[in-house]
Amino acid sequence: MNTPQTIPAAATTEESLPPLPRINVHAFCDTPETLQVMQTAAADRRMSRTFTEIFSGGIPAAVQYYAQTPTPHLLVVESAKPREAMLNELAALAQVCSPETRVVVIGHINDISFYRLLMSQGVGDYLAAPVSVPQLLASFSALFRPEAEQLGKVATFMGAKGGVGASVIAHNVAWLMSEKHETGTVIADLDLAFGTAGLDFNVDPAQGILDALASRERLDSTFLDRLLHKCSERLMLLASPGSVDKVIDIQSETLEVVLDILRSTSPWTVVDMPTAWGDWMKAALVQTDTLVIVSTPELASLRNTKSLVDMLKAIRPNDEPPLLVLNQVEMGNRPEIPPAKFSSAVGLEVTAEIPFDAQTFGQAVTNGQMIAEVAPKSKAALELERLAARLLGIEEQQEKSGRSIFQPILEKLKRKS
Ligand SMILES: Nc1ncnc2c1ncn2[C@@H]1O[C@H](COP(=O)(O)OP(=O)(O)O)[C@@H](O)[C@H]1O
Ligand SMILES: [Mg+2]
Repeated sequence: MNTPQTIPAAATTEESLPPLPRINVHAFCDTPETLQVMQTAAADRRMSRTFTEIFSGGIPAAVQYYAQTPTPHLLVVESAKPREAMLNELAALAQVCSPETRVVVIGHINDISFYRLLMSQGVGDYLAAPVSVPQLLASFSALFRPEAEQLGKVATFMGAKGGVGASVIAHNVAWLMSEKHETGTVIADLDLAFGTAGLDFNVDPAQGILDALASRERLDSTFLDRLLHKCSERLMLLASPGSVDKVIDIQSETLEVVLDILRSTSPWTVVDMPTAWGDWMKAALVQTDTLVIVSTPELASLRNTKSLVDMLKAIRPNDEPPLLVLNQVEMGNRPEIPPAKFSSAVGLEVTAEIPFDAQTFGQAVTNGQMIAEVAPKSKAALELERLAARLLGIEEQQEKSGRSIFQPILEKLKRKS
């Protein structure tokens, strides 16, 4: 008879572990011992960027919780049950777990074949209890190693001309991502001379993007962390000076490094571009996952949108077309191009159509608040929410729900055992 082979202890070189990015981490522990180790791990400096919540109740509590709530970037679950009961629990978890969530399972079965089975089917890692803090940190960081996979996404907002609302829309979308959808987000305000992010959030950071762009040799994630201003729990701002005194020429290569770092440390980066065209903007466009063009239903905006679309086709030939937002619609007192006509003229669908609403937008700026706070039921708020959901791929995720990566095999295992 074969005695089961145990899982070899992984070599953990604690010192060299990089800090985890600004991700949401949830842990559902089944034993007080693991709960305590998890709490100690959560207090480690390498977890300090994360938003970690720890619960007891093991996998059943997790299943109940995620029936209502989306699963986080990293989910740690413990089960003290024997093999078959544990597989049943995992199968239930698979029903509610998004395919994007990386799952670390802690079990009380020290058997290499069990480990291999779970691993081969998309479980991020399997650890046999008792677990140690270095072991947990090593496991988490292996799953989110910056070089292993570019974690974050970059959405860049460009206005078809000055004053169309590109910045205010970028800020509101970033805020919705971070507050409503609880996703760590950084706003990079690249409008060095006239940036308004500080005003919109009613903050006045002493440092920001200018310090990053002027410090090419010192740029790393620790240095950049110090330049970020925390606007709310999950929203950080890399602010522009918003002053013509301090303008420098942006170096494409330095900007690329900044965006690389943001991408590896934050799930989302929202780039707010100035309107005046500069060569460095191409570097930012190359790093962008989703481009949002904000336009108004006027002739000049239409012409500029067309040239932006053509330019983007040339430099991003294999990407999805940009998202188009029509803003300040039905302003009154001016001839307007109807949205459907605008859409067919530029060859883009209109993703969001935001009415002109001087009252709401004016009040938001005055209060340093967001549209969803000032007028949550307004058409503008609903359209902004739609745009945020589209960027986060929420609709897609809902369609995908129930098709978790590790579901099929768990079903099979269950039948076998
Ligand atoms: N739909 C809207 N209704 C009323 N005012 C708006 C609307 N969208 C933007 N604004 C206002 O227009 C001004 C310019 O917006 P901003 O975002 O700075 O433009 P951009 O970044 O495109 O130059 C701001 O005062 C903003 O509050
Ligand atoms: Mg702007």
